[in-house]
Amino acid sequence: MADIRAPMEPFRIKTVEPLRPVTRGERESLLKQSGFNVFGIPAEKVTIDLLTDSGTSAMSDDQWAGLLSGDESYAGARNFYHLEESVRSIFGFSHVIPTHQGRAAERVLFGAMVAKGDTVPNNIHFDTTRANVEVLGAQAVDLAAAEAYDPDTDLPFKGDMDVAKLKKLIDKRGRERIPLVMMTVTNNSGGGQPVSLKNIKEVSEVCAHHGIPFYFDACRFAENAWFIKKREKGYAKKSVLEIAQEMFSYADGATMSGKKDALVNIGGFVTFDDDALAEKVKNLLILSEGFPTYGGLAGRDLEAMARGLKEVLDEDYLDYRTGQVAFLGALLDQAGVPVLKPFGGHAVYILADRFLPHIRRAQYPGWALTVALYREYGIRAVEIGGVMFGQKTGKGRAEVYPELEMVRLAIPRRVYTASHLRYVAEALIDLYKNRDKVRGLRIVRESPFLRHFTARLEEI
Ligand SMILES: Cc1ncc(COP(=O)(O)O)c(C=O)c1O
Repeated sequence: MADIRAPMEPFRIKTVEPLRPVTRGERESLLKQSGFNVFGIPAEKVTIDLLTDSGTSAMSDDQWAGLLSGDESYAGARNFYHLEESVRSIFGFSHVIPTHQGRAAERVLFGAMVAKGDTVPNNIHFDTTRANVEVLGAQAVDLAAAEAYDPDTDLPFKGDMDVAKLKKLIDKRGRERIPLVMMTVTNNSGGGQPVSLKNIKEVSEVCAHHGIPFYFDACRFAENAWFIKKREKGYAKKSVLEIAQEMFSYADGATMSGKKDALVNIGGFVTFDDDALAEKVKNLLILSEGFPTYGGLAGRDLEAMARGLKEVLDEDYLDYRTGQVAFLGALLDQAGVPVLKPFGGHAVYILADRFLPHIRRAQYPGWALTVALYREYGIRAVEIGGVMFGQKTGKGRAEVYPELEMVRLAIPRRVYTASHLRYVAEALIDLYKNRDKVRGLRIVRESPFLRHFTARLEEI
């Protein structure tokens, strides 16, 4: 067995948060109460929480210090100008409009750009992005290259968009029905896989040719830029900041959930150059988020985001960050646990249908794995499969499932140490040996949008 080394944490720990023991019996009854939905479990009853890397980062001492400099004026708080400066220095667009998180940025941007009957392409839409397109009566189309759906192809840029598919879609739908093209970096729903600069340039050229605005869903832009530096020819000597600036130079704007690569617990923004669009977006923002210099955030939150955006570009941090993901992935892979390859930027993805081959797709193997992981080891993970993305569009409204049935182990930034990750690996390896005991589930209650958050299920 190869010796798998953990990356050293490039920080030391100044404040700690205890992990309290939870018995298996407690976990069992909590599962029943929550309708076998780990979103319904109180976080204090979770030992290792890998539900998401979103909003779960540990902030630095500098960010915490920034909170005390929060200017809580209604309009024109100084922290807004700090955020504006940070965003402009990386993204390069003139308008910086804060929102309380990423989906609010999507909502105000799409609300101003997208109409009923339109089509919005993306490499793969994240669930909130898809929902924010669909709620407007438009169609969200995923255009990732075929390899993105093959969990075994070890390619450096599996997040790339298929440019031929994009051209075909534009020809079919017509430019006037495509208000914008989105590109998600890294491609979360496709395994946290990066997009190459080559692909970004090509997509940008197609969009420019047809006069279609090109936007990034930029939540994990720094992780994406790091992979470009490590994997794409010609970028090894460029700084991550320079690479990020180049990425954004090919686009017309971006939405951003600061809860990922801005290293904050809440916050987001939308940024672009178009003045007329800014007016529309700000009008929508005022309706639901607030005045354009705070967008639903306290001044202190704006400050933390302004500082986090700069911190995330630290290359020792990004090396460790992606190293942690690779470390957990390698421990699992070496033990034969089926995982998506290559390992992405923020999470390890288990191939749940291979992990639990005795559970049919209609009984949600990914969901079953999340239930078993919590029940047996107190680990919370998220299903990215049939419950999250299943659609009743088949014959007789039968459910159609996404190509990949996965469980995502998302690693919060700067929160867990190598020994926490070893515990997770050992738990999964142990569960894999006892996989025959895991049971499938059926849905007993669901909502029409984003059903995974609130669905109730029962075991079969
Ligand atoms: C790719 C992507 N886009 C958008 C979002 C939405 O961001 P938020 O949770 O801040 O609303 C997320 C959140 O996980 C995401 O991963």
